Amino acid sequence: MTAVSAPSTGEASPETTAGDTGAEARRRRTFAVISHPDAGKSTLTEALALHAEVISAAGAVHGKGGRRGVTSDWMDMERERGISVTSAVLQFSYRNQVINLLDTPGHGDFSEDTYRVLAAVDAAVMLLDAAKGLEPQTLKLFDVCRDRGVPVLTFVNKWDRPGREPLELLDEVEQTIGLRPMPITWPVGIAGDLHGLVERADGRFHRFTRAAHGAAKATSQVLDADRAAVEEGPDWQRAVEELALLDEIGAGYDEQAFAAGTATPVMFGSALSNIGVARLLDALVDLAPPPGPRPDQKGEPRPVEAPFSGLVFKVQASMDRSHRDRVAFVRVCSGRFERGMVLTHDATGRPFATKYAQAMFGRDRSTISEAFPGDIVGLVNATALRPGDTLWAEQPVTFPTIPSFAPEHFAACRVADMSKTKQFRKGIEQLDSEGVIQVLSSDLRGDQAPVLAAVGPLQFEVVSARLADEFSAPVKLDRLDYSLARRTDPAGAEALRSAVGIEVLTRRLDGELLALFPHKWRLQAVAQNNPDLLLAPLVADA
Ligand code: G4P
Repeated sequence: MTAVSAPSTGEASPETTAGDTGAEARRRRTFAVISHPDAGKSTLTEALALHAEVISAAGAVHGKGGRRGVTSDWMDMERERGISVTSAVLQFSYRNQVINLLDTPGHGDFSEDTYRVLAAVDAAVMLLDAAKGLEPQTLKLFDVCRDRGVPVLTFVNKWDRPGREPLELLDEVEQTIGLRPMPITWPVGIAGDLHGLVERADGRFHRFTRAAHGAAKATSQVLDADRAAVEEGPDWQRAVEELALLDEIGAGYDEQAFAAGTATPVMFGSALSNIGVARLLDALVDLAPPPGPRPDQKGEPRPVEAPFSGLVFKVQASMDRSHRDRVAFVRVCSGRFERGMVLTHDATGRPFATKYAQAMFGRDRSTISEAFPGDIVGLVNATALRPGDTLWAEQPVTFPTIPSFAPEHFAACRVADMSKTKQFRKGIEQLDSEGVIQVLSSDLRGDQAPVLAAVGPLQFEVVSARLADEFSAPVKLDRLDYSLARRTDPAGAEALRSAVGIEVLTRRLDGELLALFPHKWRLQAVAQNNPDLLLAPLVADA
């Protein structure tokens, strides 16, 4: 295990009281960036780290373009495709606050992973490309935020190159997702010719000198409106007119609407040139909510000052080839976490020792001695923990489990070399419990040939690569012709047993019976002919 120094900030004294826990919680901002691939998430994360005092040694975020990666590079596939499959956590301090930035995989095939990450944050930054506006993956992720009640801040990126009109972009946000935009800065100069940003609250102009390729912070000069009018001429005039229009339609800042998820503060900038990035950090500190009471399964809120509780939102193995271990990522929901404390694993009632608690920064790890609500703790070799599990101390609590997505891709999986059957079983069990893929089985298919169910086909590649690499069990995958699953019961399973082109399988993780259909027309026909049959949608298409 890599022993690295403990985080330098975010630590309180050992005699922390409940009141201190509350104060520490109020210092935390835990968020994720949601965006379509290529909108600039990695660039923005790097730029944010540049403005902050990074608690871990960060470097760059992805392994893209030869940059060193904060995100783990445990898998060649990740490197080859330039996509981030795993989620990293970055913790830094800014204005004496502790910011936890959770990375989300950019590719849509891993939305389930993203969904879990969004269960662990208090806010999200929706990153838009100024030329492209709302893109499909952004829309999908935004829907998850809306479902989970996560407040969203919007950052319109790439304003340093040609793009759309700011008003048009805001209109798109409002019309397409029904989120009322509340700009807090406004660009002076069209996209591609950005001079700076007006701070809407005080009307002052922040003029930027571009930073070359994110190498250094962009410097800015603050001008009052009169001077800006003289020096910026028509560009200033245009910005003033657009702001007046916004005032007329009442796009002022409304804290309650933001918290309720019906409005979004909007900022403009360029992650690459480091423009508007510090403003985004300020907005996170000033506007985004700190960790608050989290409702348990019955809807009862658990205050942040209550004894420790945490939610496992991700389980991941082999982030580092030299470790080959399994890490459970836990979001602290209440109380103070102290390494070595013995917790209760709510699902089994068993004690769970936290000797190997670590702060995880992709492949960098540091031993963590304590953590507070909003922080993310990595528990190493946590074989019993699954995504959605609750851990607690002193006072029992069960947080609602994280719903799984409806799979749309299915493949029969068998080991290529029969002498590796044992390794294959072990590997499948492990990937199933990590939530990398859903594993379905039936008496007919037997234990040796489970069906893998995925939200996106790239998940199959991850499974294949990991089974071959980590478990020495290369597999053969045969894609099946099913495209949707419905939940059914034993009576439904019996009724569908002889139906052509339909198969009923058991989901191993929870014993749920899933009926697989080739297409929605077949489902519709079966449902029409058998109105009493239980064919319930799974979460994502509910
Ligand atoms: P992602 O993580 O959301 O997929 O996006 P990433 O940061 O990798 O950015 C995608 C591309 O967009 C990169 O260019 C990046 O440099 C560029 N980019 C990000 N922010 C800005 C911005 O504010 N302005 C401009 N002009 N470009 C931006 P690339 O050529 O694909 O990669 P690279 O070789 O620069 O790494």
